Amino acid sequence: MISKNATYTLNNGKKIPIIGFGTWQIPDGQLAKDSVLHALEAGYVHIDTAAVYRNEASVGDAIIESKIKRESLYITTKLWNDNIDYRMAKAAIKESLTKLQLDYLDLYLIHWPNPKPIRDAWQNRNSDVWIAMEEAVEEGLIKSIGVSNFREHHLKALLEYAKIVPAVNQIYLNPSDQQEAVVKFSKKHGLLLEAYSPLGTGSILDDVQLNKLAATYNKTASQLAIRWSLQKGYLPLPKSANRHRIFENINVFDFEISDTDMKVIDGYRGIGKLAPDADIVEY
Ligand code: A2P
Repeated sequence: MISKNATYTLNNGKKIPIIGFGTWQIPDGQLAKDSVLHALEAGYVHIDTAAVYRNEASVGDAIIESKIKRESLYITTKLWNDNIDYRMAKAAIKESLTKLQLDYLDLYLIHWPNPKPIRDAWQNRNSDVWIAMEEAVEEGLIKSIGVSNFREHHLKALLEYAKIVPAVNQIYLNPSDQQEAVVKFSKKHGLLLEAYSPLGTGSILDDVQLNKLAATYNKTASQLAIRWSLQKGYLPLPKSANRHRIFENINVFDFEISDTDMKVIDGYRGIGKLAPDADIVEY
């Protein structure tokens, strides 16, 4: 049985902890710092943030306060949409490192493939910023690079010129929206799927069937959804700013969903929110 210390191996040979703590929508300051400290105490060693979450400084403060060795942690952040060329991407990487008070990132992602400021000129933007990210890998500032919210056509374009193949695609992924096409395409090209909003930003948690099934395992709906994600081979990034729920969400390594029930959960499409479409989002 997998444990919370287990890792996946990325396509560049580097290891990544199989569950991460998501920090989207946790406001900078005491709440973000405390949430990360609770997560580290609960046993998460992998923290996922982004420049646009505006809480990188608090994540950095929590890391320092925890006194956990840098090499025992796995830290991801992301390039925001207003960085639309090589020069801006270079500066953004440095800025994230400064805010996080780190001298390297484990993983750095293009947050969205088609930012609104340059809509429909996304191919050039992505190739430009990807070069900056590849150089940051060569310089030792970043260990692995990847993408987020990419669909097949975005990935296809990137794969044509990328010298470094993206290691991950981080997407909205949970029983409600299983994103079959992009999951298949990402896997075929060796990208690990990271599942943000494994609880559908909370939207799947009131579903009666999910709760009933969870109860048969003496687990909560949240734990069942996170465990489903792990058994699918994804890397779930549950977010919570509540100490009790932070602990609850990593307590998923003492049970296993049967093959039959995995298929039952596969059938829960549409029980909550669906993935945003990167080509039409308002940012
Ligand atoms: P909170 O931060 O107050 O715990 P997702 O990870 O899919 O984005 O979902 C995050 C949302 O789900 C947040 O609103 C979070 O609220 C809520 N949430 C996280 N964990 C749990 C849980 N174990 N039970 C109920 N709600 C949860």
